[in-house]
Amino acid sequence: MPADLPNRSLGGKIAIVTGASRGIGAGIAYELAKNGAKVMITYTSPTSTPLAEALVSRITELNNDAAAAIVRVDLRLPESPAAIVAATLAAFSTTTIDILVNNAGVELYRPLLGTTAADFAHVFDVNVRAPILMTEAALPYLRAPARIINISSIGARRGVPGYTVYDASKAAIEGFTRACAVELGDAGHSVNAVAPGQVVSDMLGTVSGEILDDLIKRTAMQHRVGVVGDIAPIVAWLAQESSRWVTGQTISATGGCEML
Ligand SMILES: NC(=O)c1ccc[n+]([C@@H]2O[C@H](COP(=O)([O-])OP(=O)(O)OC[C@H]3O[C@@H](n4cnc5c(N)ncnc54)[C@H](OP(=O)(O)O)[C@@H]3O)[C@@H](O)[C@H]2O)c1
Repeated sequence: MPADLPNRSLGGKIAIVTGASRGIGAGIAYELAKNGAKVMITYTSPTSTPLAEALVSRITELNNDAAAAIVRVDLRLPESPAAIVAATLAAFSTTTIDILVNNAGVELYRPLLGTTAADFAHVFDVNVRAPILMTEAALPYLRAPARIINISSIGARRGVPGYTVYDASKAAIEGFTRACAVELGDAGHSVNAVAPGQVVSDMLGTVSGEILDDLIKRTAMQHRVGVVGDIAPIVAWLAQESSRWVTGQTISATGGCEML
C-alpha cells in the first residue's frame, strides 16, 4: 500500500480495549485506530483521565475515520462490563461490536507463603473474572466475524518465583480462551490470546532486576526487553478478518524468550 494512503482494514469496526489508558492497552487502541477502527478506551484510575483523553486526541488527529471514546469503570465490579458495552453502543451510535481486547490487568509480587484470599481476589477479579464477564456482556452484540483477544503473559507458562497468583491468573485466561473459541466458533467469532514477555510499561517497574536479567538472557531476539510497539501489531493482526483460521491459540510475543 502506498505510504500516503491510510490503512482502513478495520474501517467501520467497533472495538473495545480494556485498560487502554496506558501501557500495552494504549498501544493496542492506537494501533486498531490506525487501521480505521472506532475504539472504546476503558480505564479506572482518576489519575489516568488525562492519559485517556490524550489518546482520544491522538486518535482523532489520525484523520482516517477512526474514532475513540472513553469510559472510566472499575473492572473489579461485576456490573462494569455491561456499563462498558452500553457506553460503547452509545458513543458510536451502533448496535454491534466487532473487536474485544481484554487487556486490563494487575500484577502482584507475593511469595506463596503469606498469600491471602484477598490477594487472590485482587488479581483474579481483574485478570480472570473481568475478561469472562466482559466477553459475556459483549456476546449478544458481537457481529460476525468478531474477534476476541485476551492478553495473557509469559508467566502462564514460565513459572516465575513470587508470582504464583499472577501466573495462575494468566494460565486461567488461556484456558478460558480455548473453551470460548470452541463455544463461539459456530458463530464465526475467533478467540485468541497474546502472551507478552517483559514489556516496557508501568507494570514492568514491579519486576526485580534479577528476574528481568534472566528473562533478557533467554530472549532470542536481540536480548532485549519488549516494547509496546512489539505487541500491538500482533493484536491488530488477530483483529483482522484475515486471521480467521487462527482460534483458540495463545501467541507467544516474547522475542523467543518462551517458545510455546
Ligand atoms: N508489561 C509487561 O511486561 C507485561 C507482560 C506480560 C503481560 N502483560 C499483561 O498486559 C496487560 C497490560 O499490561 P501493562 O503492562 O500495559 O499494564 P499497566 O501499564 O499497568 O496498565 C494497566 C491497565 O489496566 C487498567 N486497569 C488496572 N486495573 C483495573 C481495574 N480494576 N479496572 C479497570 N482497568 C484496570 C489500568 O487502568 P488505570 O490507568 O486507570 O489504572 C491500565 O489502563 C496486562 O493484562 C498484563 O498482565 C504485561
